[in-house]
Amino acid sequence: MKVSPSILTCDYAHLDREMAFVEKTGADMVHLDVMDGVFVPNLSFGPPVIARLRPLTSLPFDVHLMMQLPHRLIGAFADAGADLINFHPESGAPIDETLADIRARGKKAALTLKPATPAEAVFPYLDRVDMVLVMTVEPGFGGQAFMEDMLPKIAAIRSEIDRRGLDVRIEVDGGIGEATAPLVVQAGADVAVVGSALFNSPDPAALVDSLHALG
Ligand code: DX5
Ligand code: ZN
Repeated sequence: MKVSPSILTCDYAHLDREMAFVEKTGADMVHLDVMDGVFVPNLSFGPPVIARLRPLTSLPFDVHLMMQLPHRLIGAFADAGADLINFHPESGAPIDETLADIRARGKKAALTLKPATPAEAVFPYLDRVDMVLVMTVEPGFGGQAFMEDMLPKIAAIRSEIDRRGLDVRIEVDGGIGEATAPLVVQAGADVAVVGSALFNSPDPAALVDSLHALG
């Protein structure tokens, strides 16, 4: 599976160092968690910070928008250097228009589901997304415990993608590490967001290698 490290729990005083750390692990992209303090009970960063990070790495930016009305800022995130833009259907954004806007800007589009949102919520859009992100914790904070009851949701989305012969990745976000990654791969996920497990690992490159070797 591919690995997308989340820098949410990193040292924000040394973002250049943290980006170099992510590159050195051999990860495939960087997961950037944008939080507005309304959609989720936490605040992080926005387009100006992402624009400053952009020249520090050649890894693709996987931007996860945990915010209300994200459609208002798609242009700003695209211009800041996002390669893939994840937004929530629960955010109040007009879904079709927002997906079209992301793709019209030459970016990959993904829909992200909170734990309470059923798999079927993404089915009408599967032919218009590059990826579906299944939250395996309540969005807002790193370091939470993986919700095992999200496994059937991952499996349901994977079987619908395969049934329709579509080329859509499934990413999982929250509580992913050595113990939980095999479970999500088994259910049909192929991209892992890894935050605290990577930043706290004694051997981050070995962790990325072991995730790459799954599935
Ligand atoms: C949570 C964020 C995640 C988070 C993952 O709301 O969307 O990307 O940083 O962190 P871990 O891997 O520590 O659960
Ligand atoms: Zn995230």
